[in-house]
Amino acid sequence: MKSILVIGSQWGDEGKGKVTNLYSKNADIVVRYQGGNNAGHTVKFDGKEFHLQTIPSGVFNKNTINILGNGMVINPIAVYKEMQTLIEAGFDCSNVIISSRAHVDLNYHLELDGLKERKLKEKQIGTTKKGIGPCYTDKISRDGIRFADFIDEDFPKIYKEHLKEKNELIEELGGNPIDYETSIEEYKKVIEFLKPHVKETVSFLAKARKENKKILFEGAQGSMLDIDFGTYPYVTSSNCTSGGALTGSGIGIGYIEGIVAIIKAYTTRVGEGPFVTELFDEISTTIREKAHEYGVVTHRPRRIGWLDLVQLRFSQNVNGFKHGALMLFDILSGLGDIKVCTAYELDGKIIDYVPASLKETYRCKPIYKTFKGWNEDISKCKTYDELPQEAKDYVEFIEKELGIKFVLISVGPDQKDTIIREDIF
Ligand code: IMO
Ligand code: MG
Repeated sequence: MKSILVIGSQWGDEGKGKVTNLYSKNADIVVRYQGGNNAGHTVKFDGKEFHLQTIPSGVFNKNTINILGNGMVINPIAVYKEMQTLIEAGFDCSNVIISSRAHVDLNYHLELDGLKERKLKEKQIGTTKKGIGPCYTDKISRDGIRFADFIDEDFPKIYKEHLKEKNELIEELGGNPIDYETSIEEYKKVIEFLKPHVKETVSFLAKARKENKKILFEGAQGSMLDIDFGTYPYVTSSNCTSGGALTGSGIGIGYIEGIVAIIKAYTTRVGEGPFVTELFDEISTTIREKAHEYGVVTHRPRRIGWLDLVQLRFSQNVNGFKHGALMLFDILSGLGDIKVCTAYELDGKIIDYVPASLKETYRCKPIYKTFKGWNEDISKCKTYDELPQEAKDYVEFIEKELGIKFVLISVGPDQKDTIIREDIF
C-alpha cells in the first residue's frame, strides 16, 4: 500500500509509537494530524528509548519528511525543546515541517487548562494540562492563532490583544495573569528557530501523492478519546478516529489505502471517565508493573482492564479498519485465565453497543468469555507458529469478532520483538 493510517483503537497508549516507527522506515512522509503534546509515543530501537510528544515517529530516518499537520495544536516552546533533545541525540530535525494552518497552543491555553480543571473539582476530566482543550476551543470559536500568523511580524500585536482578554479570564478563575514582555521574548526566540520549518503542507502532500510517495498517517490518542465518539466529556478535544486524518492533514478520503488499528492485548486508560472492564484486583497491579503502565506525559498510573470487544467493535465501525496490530501481547503470559468482554449487561438487558449516555455506561457490567492462559515466555517468538496454542486462540478469536487480520503482533518493547505476519506498507 502507498498510504496507511495508524490509529489508536482504545483509550490511547496502545503502542502507536512502536508501530509507526516500524512503518516509518518505509515511509517517505509521516504525518501527525491531530492532538499536540498530550501524546506520548515511546520508540525503542538499538537499545535506545525516545519519548515523542509532538513530532512524528519518522524523525529518526533522515530521508523521511515529518509533517505536523493542520489539525494539530502545537505548543511552539514544547516542540522547540523536543527538537533540541533530538538534535542533541544526533537527529538534526531538518526533516520536520509544521503546517502553517496548525494552531498555536500558547501559554494562556496551558494556564486555562489547569484552572478549568481546578474549577471542575471532582468532575475534572483529568487532562494532561497541555492546553489542548482551550486551544481547540479557540480554533472552533475562530479566535485561534495559526502558525502562519505566529511567524508573521504582526504576531506580537495579535498576541498582546489575545493575552489581554485571556488574562481577564485567568484572573476570573483565580489564576495569576501572564506577563506579556517575558512571554513575547521567549516566543521571539522560538519563532526564529521554527520559522524555516513552517510551510504550506496541503500542496506538499498532494504533490508527494502524485509522485507516488509512501505516506504514513500517525494518529495520537485513541478512538474512545475522540471528541465525537469517545466517552464524552471524558475525552480529548480532537477527532482521533479516522475522519480526523482527513481534516487534519488535507488528504482526500480516497487517498488513504489502508488503516491499521493499534490494539493493546488488554485495556488501559489515564484520566477520569467510564471504563467497563476496569480491574481493581492484583491482576491489574501485575499488569501495571510488568508493562510499566504509567503515563509518558503525566506519569500517572494507568487504569487497567480486560480487553473490551464491545468497545473495539464500536471503534471498528467508526474507523473502518481491516488490519490490526496486537500490542503488549507478552504481558498476558503467566497471568492465568484471560478474560475478554463480549457484551455489556445494562439494567438486566444484554447490549452490544457503547451507550452514548455516560450514566448508562457507568451502569454497564461486562460479560466475559474466559480463555485458558499460557505460561510460556513468548517474547522470543519470531513467527506466529511459535506461539502457544492458547495464545493463538486468543488472537484468532479477536480477529474473528472484529473481522480483521492482525498484520503484526508485538511481543516486547523493542522493534526486534515483533512478529510480522504480513507486510502491508
Ligand atoms: P497517546 O497518543 C492516553 C487523555 C487524558 C485525559 C483526556 C483529555 O500517548 O496515546 P487532554 O489533555 O487531551 O485534554 O486530556 O485524554 N489523553 C490521553 N490518554 N494517551 C494519550 O495520548 C492521551 N492524550 C490525552 O489523560 O483523560
Ligand atoms: Mg502515550
